Amino acid sequence: MQQFHPSNTRGMIEMRCYQLKQWFYVKRPKGIVDREHYELRESDFSPQLSKNEVLIKSEYISVDPYMRIQQAATHSWEPPHPLNTVQGAAVVAKVLESNNSNFQPGDWVTGYTGWQTHAIVHGNEIQTLDPEQADVKTALGILGMPGRTAWFGLMEAGKPKPGETVLVSGAAGAVGSLVTQFAIKAGCRVVAIAGSEEKCEWLKTLGVVEALNYKAFSSAPQLQTKLLELGGIDVYFDNVGGMVSDAALTSLNLRARVVVCGQISQYNGGLDTPEMSPRFLHQLLYKRASVHGILARDFTHRMAEMIEHVAPWVKAGEIQFRTTEVNGFEYLPDTLAGLFEGQNIGKAIVRVV
Ligand SMILES: NC(=O)c1ccc[n+]([C@@H]2O[C@H](COP(=O)([O-])OP(=O)(O)OC[C@H]3O[C@@H](n4cnc5c(N)ncnc54)[C@H](OP(=O)(O)O)[C@@H]3O)[C@@H](O)[C@H]2O)c1
Repeated sequence: MQQFHPSNTRGMIEMRCYQLKQWFYVKRPKGIVDREHYELRESDFSPQLSKNEVLIKSEYISVDPYMRIQQAATHSWEPPHPLNTVQGAAVVAKVLESNNSNFQPGDWVTGYTGWQTHAIVHGNEIQTLDPEQADVKTALGILGMPGRTAWFGLMEAGKPKPGETVLVSGAAGAVGSLVTQFAIKAGCRVVAIAGSEEKCEWLKTLGVVEALNYKAFSSAPQLQTKLLELGGIDVYFDNVGGMVSDAALTSLNLRARVVVCGQISQYNGGLDTPEMSPRFLHQLLYKRASVHGILARDFTHRMAEMIEHVAPWVKAGEIQFRTTEVNGFEYLPDTLAGLFEGQNIGKAIVRVV
């Protein structure tokens, strides 16, 4: 909603007024994160931009599993997300007003302005997107943080070699579906694990040698038997932890590499009270395997390198970038909760309507 107010100084200067909506993170979840941990606040504002500042309006907002890690009361790679602040998140936005010569109204940009409809940012806090080069939503997925995680996690920590078997858990998700496709491009046999038949069917169309629905396996030994039948694992790209990882760690081949990217099965409560299971670290010894935890932000300075490799594949349609889009700013907390129920295929995004 836009209104125009005459300024009371220097004659009639156009002052636009905008309706701002913000989701504040207000309560730490003990288990599942949900709407009750957030509060929707609405207000009107008339922006006054300082030099080099830009007013942006979010069109697409990201929801990501790491948000749940930040909600735990304990320190992770950084302090917990503060209460009574806007939920942090990456966005794709349009410039509404600009006091910075590098940005014009109508430009597409990406930044980290969180779960709010509008934000005033300094020009160096946002990057311009070219819709002619790629769908702007790729900035939240394949050409953004998930793409960086998948690319550097697989290539630098997984070190895949042609012919090797790469097991990807959470394979139909934002990161997993990209790891799957990057590993196939690297000449590997990919075994994909996901949580529904629909997801497995899609993964088969991407060219995996096998797609396994982990919900069809009642125990880690049962899944382990299947993985060993498939020839064991040279690279395990772990997005989920829990039972799937118990099976994977007992199915490693000699000198396997385990990439610990995420442990989503443990986020809802398990971060403070981890789920205990049989200890399999002796398997790492027998197999002279290595384990490497990776964090997307450690590779932020190498973003251009990832884009140089991956953007041509996106443009040529050689990599599928799939999204699950939810229409409506008001559904942000529900969409976050949906990640833990496997509601998304590919990158989960909320469209601001
Ligand atoms: N290290 C880093 O820098 C970094 C960066 C980005 C993401 N990550 C991690 O990578 C993982 C994937 O992130 P993403 O953004 O790509 O999310 P995503 O995979 O698109 O969405 C989450 C998926 O996790 C699966 N899942 C939820 N609960 C599960 C459970 N209990 N057991 C097994 N699978 C479960 C669901 O798929 P199913 O239907 O298959 O269960 C769900 O769709 C997360 O663990 C995340 O924290 C790490």
